[in-house]
Amino acid sequence: MSQNFYPLKVKNLIKESINAVSIVFEIPNELKEKFNYKAGQYLTLIAQINGQEVRRAYSLSSCPETDSDLKVSVKKVKDGLFSSYANDLLQIGDELKVMPPQGTFINNEESEHLVLFAAGSGITPIISILKSALHYGKQKVSLCYGNRSEAETMFKHELDALASAHSDKFSLEYFESDEADILDIAKMTSIVKTTSNDAHYFICGPQGVITAVNESLQAANISKSHIHIEYFASPKTDKKEVISVVSGDVLDVVMVIDDETYEVRLNENETLLEAGERVGIDPPFSCQSGVCTTCKAKLLVGEVEMENNFGLGDDEVEEGYILTCISTPKTPGVKISWDEV
Ligand code: FES
Repeated sequence: MSQNFYPLKVKNLIKESINAVSIVFEIPNELKEKFNYKAGQYLTLIAQINGQEVRRAYSLSSCPETDSDLKVSVKKVKDGLFSSYANDLLQIGDELKVMPPQGTFINNEESEHLVLFAAGSGITPIISILKSALHYGKQKVSLCYGNRSEAETMFKHELDALASAHSDKFSLEYFESDEADILDIAKMTSIVKTTSNDAHYFICGPQGVITAVNESLQAANISKSHIHIEYFASPKTDKKEVISVVSGDVLDVVMVIDDETYEVRLNENETLLEAGERVGIDPPFSCQSGVCTTCKAKLLVGEVEMENNFGLGDDEVEEGYILTCISTPKTPGVKISWDEV
């Protein structure tokens, strides 16, 4: 399955905090079905910035059940090329290339209690999941949301309004502190004590917060299958010096995409994705850092080395899925397919 991007017009821009903006897209009727989504999914966007094509993945902050428009929210980060462009330069009526929604950070509504942890712009998929759960009304929902300051808190008015409208089902707790102190262990432990056995936990935020929350949940004997994590898809900035040392036959791989089969010889230190891109077979990708899973393929023959996999669960790895942006072949005869995902 090669990547398909569609040009979408920016319908509106909404300032969500002092350093975050939501981009609302206009979806033409003929693309409506392609852009159907589930709460918690993300979009990959491409913009031309200073003559350079810049690609980023952002979670949808709109909710498919309650919002007619589709929007992503972008927090401006220091030296962030795309985030600065979105916050400072993007205009209503501009066009961005957009890949249809993807992602598996999805609430299956099996639990009676949904516990959400967000820090900073990690709130974007979380607010979508929250609104969807409140819409269906089957689950009790708790949200712990950390920020450095109130001025940086995205969706504060909307969250406060939801908390008063659904006070029987939804409890909301803000944490305003430095990143390292957000959701500290003592607070975490007390929150987890109030949750039921079958609760499901969704976490999104900076790496340190994710690790702290995840460790606290595991220390409280919460089953891993009840913990759902969405990492930020931080774009790759520097090419790794050495991915793994491979040469000879190992560099010859077979790639299947869109029902076509290609024999590709990798350059040394090249990932499977980079080789696929170099020979022009148009494989799908977004973050290029093992986070978003857009580049996922099935390993049909051989073994690969995967470095820093944040996106795939153990079950997916066992089933033979790989992230091609961080994979290099380990044995001769590697064959992968983007069609079988
Ligand atoms: S492109 Fe994001 S995980 Fe590979």
